[in-house]
Amino acid sequence: MGAPVAIVAAMHEELSALLAQMPDEQRVRAAGRDFWVGHLHGQPVVAVLSRIGKVAAAVTATVLLERFGVRAIVFTGVAGGLSPGVNVGDVVVATQLLQHDLDASPIFPKYEVPLMGMARFAADTAIADALSGAAADVLRDPVALIGQPAVDEFGIRSPKVHRGLLVSGDRFVSTTAESEALQRALPDALAVEMEGAAMAQVCHDYGVPFAAMRTISDRADDAAHADFARFVTEVASRYSLALVGAWLAGLPAT
Ligand code: ADE
Repeated sequence: MGAPVAIVAAMHEELSALLAQMPDEQRVRAAGRDFWVGHLHGQPVVAVLSRIGKVAAAVTATVLLERFGVRAIVFTGVAGGLSPGVNVGDVVVATQLLQHDLDASPIFPKYEVPLMGMARFAADTAIADALSGAAADVLRDPVALIGQPAVDEFGIRSPKVHRGLLVSGDRFVSTTAESEALQRALPDALAVEMEGAAMAQVCHDYGVPFAAMRTISDRADDAAHADFARFVTEVASRYSLALVGAWLAGLPAT
């Protein structure tokens, strides 16, 4: 049996949907977290809740790599939409990730990770292709994916898949002013969250493929987000299960 792949989510509600599909999982406790070791679609998998924020994500990635020897990490969860066309219910698959709150200027260029000479970390193309292909498939029929009540409640009519820059920072962006400032500073940023770029940096250090998919839960503005918890349970967890499941199902048997 080959090395496992890791599936990481920041919030419990997302992981529980995936865990329900892993009948043989075993719990291994490390770094104050539960790592669930088992199988999904016939693939060896370690699933874990990272908790929220860049440090939590970096610790989780390091444990996955050092202790579990995973051969790839996929992060799944929610994000706030930044670009004008990125709406609630859409999916963003990262091609690049950057820490928007990293600024050691004037010693180093803004956003650059000091002493690494880079600000943007590339996601693995093959995994990103598989995730966006699966997203394009399942988003054609949002009612089949999340049910009519959730479609109506969250106004998800014709959800889209976007690929591009995902930015991360230790802030929940919840004012229009901050969202607009981020869009001015980083015009190609599609969405903002709190973990991806940190995990991408750790995976880069270890030379292990990383990819991230995010369901847009809010527009990172003044309305972000009254119904956050319900959105995660009713919408994002189902998106995660469908997309990560499709990626795993398409992997060669180990
Ligand atoms: N995750 C989901 N929405 C977010 C937001 N508005 N800011 C940061 N992380 C998020």
